[in-house]
Amino acid sequence: MTATTTPGTSLNVQRISKTFSSRNGTVPALQNVSFTVADGEFYSIVGPSGCGKSTLLNIIAGLEPEDTGHILVGAGIPDAPDNLESNAVGADAPVGPRLGTIGYMPQKDLLLPWRTVLDNAALGLELTGVSRTTARERARSLLDRFGLDGFADSYPAELSGGMRQRAAFLRTVLTDRSLMLLDEPFGALDALTRRSMQEWLLGVWSKMQRTVVLITHDVDEAIFLSDRVAVMSPRPGRIVAEHPVDLPRPRSAEMITSREFIEVKRRIMADLRAALEGSNDAGE
Ligand SMILES: Nc1ncnc2c1ncn2[C@@H]1O[C@H](COP(=O)(O)OP(=O)(O)OP(=O)(O)O)[C@@H](O)[C@H]1O
Ligand SMILES: [Mg+2]
Repeated sequence: MTATTTPGTSLNVQRISKTFSSRNGTVPALQNVSFTVADGEFYSIVGPSGCGKSTLLNIIAGLEPEDTGHILVGAGIPDAPDNLESNAVGADAPVGPRLGTIGYMPQKDLLLPWRTVLDNAALGLELTGVSRTTARERARSLLDRFGLDGFADSYPAELSGGMRQRAAFLRTVLTDRSLMLLDEPFGALDALTRRSMQEWLLGVWSKMQRTVVLITHDVDEAIFLSDRVAVMSPRPGRIVAEHPVDLPRPRSAEMITSREFIEVKRRIMADLRAALEGSNDAGE
């Protein structure tokens, strides 16, 4: 039985480069980053701190302009730009948020301090035109799943870091976009909560057939969740390798000790090490 009602969204990132300039000089953050993510695919990116991962997601979301390159977001085959919707943005086009298609959970949770947990969670939905009452009802029905039961009327300042992150994640999931960009969504969670949130995310993903790009420092997490794991080099960030994960779905916690899991982990770790050593050789 095919249960899908909304078409998925594919992503095609073509040769994106970005250099930041400030009084202290220039920082080349990204250099010719290219990759494609198919409709409904779960794609993770791992890489050393400061290699440009958050910058890359900001550019994909349309919140930060790229220096050169193109982002194509749309339905169809990622390698076939003719099939893509017209929201491609090139270096010479004005940058504009592609937020109609994209749900973005930035690394910083960006909760509004004057809104309660419930109202923060409902915010994304409200911005899409859903009535406040409906948005609040839908948010309330998920508070339990996100470990926020009993905190609907609390303000962000009254929450732990992990609870804030879960509230921000709830807001992103509720917006119901076909492409979700998640920047370390589980970074502030303890190991047990993290595992249960990963399993929960897989459940949501398999039911809703969304396309996901996830940034994480946790190689196990990337493998457990993903169809493919990309490895980025140190700054300026480039994709140096992509590893398909051939574990069957639905995934289960025991797979983490399977031979396939350990083998793909070994290859990803080797690529990360090689990228770091390469950058040390190239350094001063
Ligand atoms: N607005 C900005 N102005 C100047 N430099 C910036 C800006 N944003 C990011 N950078 C620089 O670009 C580089 C990449 O930053 P970015 O936040 O994308 O890294 P990251 O891979 O997400 O790191 P982490 O894993 O620690 O979150 C860093 O050297 C950072 O200092
Ligand atoms: Mg980051």
